[in-house]
Amino acid sequence: MPTRHFLSLMDLSTNEFRALIDRAIELKAETRAGKISTLMQGKTAVLVFEKSSTRTRVSFETGVGQFGGKSIFLAPSESHLGRGESIEDTARVLSRMANLIIMRTGAHERIETMAKFASVPVINGLSDFNHPCQLLADIQAYTEHRGDIRGKTVAWIGDGNNVCHSWMNAARQLDFKLNIATPEDHQPDTILIQQCADYISLTTDPREAVTESVLVVTDTWSGMGFEKEKKQRESIFGSYCVDEKLMQEAAPDALFMHCLPAYRGSEVTSGVIDGPQSIVWDEAENRLHAQKALMEFLLLEDAGN
Ligand code: CP
Ligand code: NVA
Repeated sequence: MPTRHFLSLMDLSTNEFRALIDRAIELKAETRAGKISTLMQGKTAVLVFEKSSTRTRVSFETGVGQFGGKSIFLAPSESHLGRGESIEDTARVLSRMANLIIMRTGAHERIETMAKFASVPVINGLSDFNHPCQLLADIQAYTEHRGDIRGKTVAWIGDGNNVCHSWMNAARQLDFKLNIATPEDHQPDTILIQQCADYISLTTDPREAVTESVLVVTDTWSGMGFEKEKKQRESIFGSYCVDEKLMQEAAPDALFMHCLPAYRGSEVTSGVIDGPQSIVWDEAENRLHAQKALMEFLLLEDAGN
């Protein structure tokens, strides 16, 4: 059997996705009850991060530690990747020593190359194209608060970016409706729009998107790599701020999510993100539990090979 990787939510079957969420909820309870796991005893996970991170790094390193394993963080400036060693050779070498590779980078092709040449599972810890680990945590959070997301309507407000792309994949995997409101020139990827056509709607009007939505989701307007456009983006996205007024247009008990880091006063007001409808801290915590479920799944699959 070929090595299973997790570069996109589409690398899972719907049943596997649902089972991972159930397992993440179970692992959360087990961790809180103090249950000890030795799943990764004697095993190593290497984190190859070519972009900044707070949550993804800490959740993976903490999860590996809770499983009794060892994590090694490789920043490009401290490894030969930053001096021109190829991803192909890095993948081959890491596979001879480690049991898991978690990669965060810009161009999605870099993660695909890592996976192509690695003989251990590779996890996408964010690329410019998508952020599937975030969605495991987000779906876990929604499920914990409201139950099954199937058949529900969710609104994405702001930039049609990497996190939006993973929400689109989640919609087609789990059969819910995603209303996407973006400025015209910031729509999601065209091919992905076609692939998800049955599950999404596109608009430039945030109010239209949130109508009947039980969950409103946003993200920073200037993700990593777009810092130079920050000022320009602030003006383009000005009317896409998720504020109290917009939340009132959504379903009465609608929840609010943001993958973080958040910029209060830009994409969201503090009244919303720090208010009663926000579940952003559960989302953030769930990065730990959902990724533990993911690592367990991939390591057990790998052991079966
Ligand atoms: N949400 C998220 O991936 O956060 P970090 O960039 O801090 O890892
Ligand atoms: N869209 C953001 C997500 C950060 C977790 C970015 O790519 O920077």
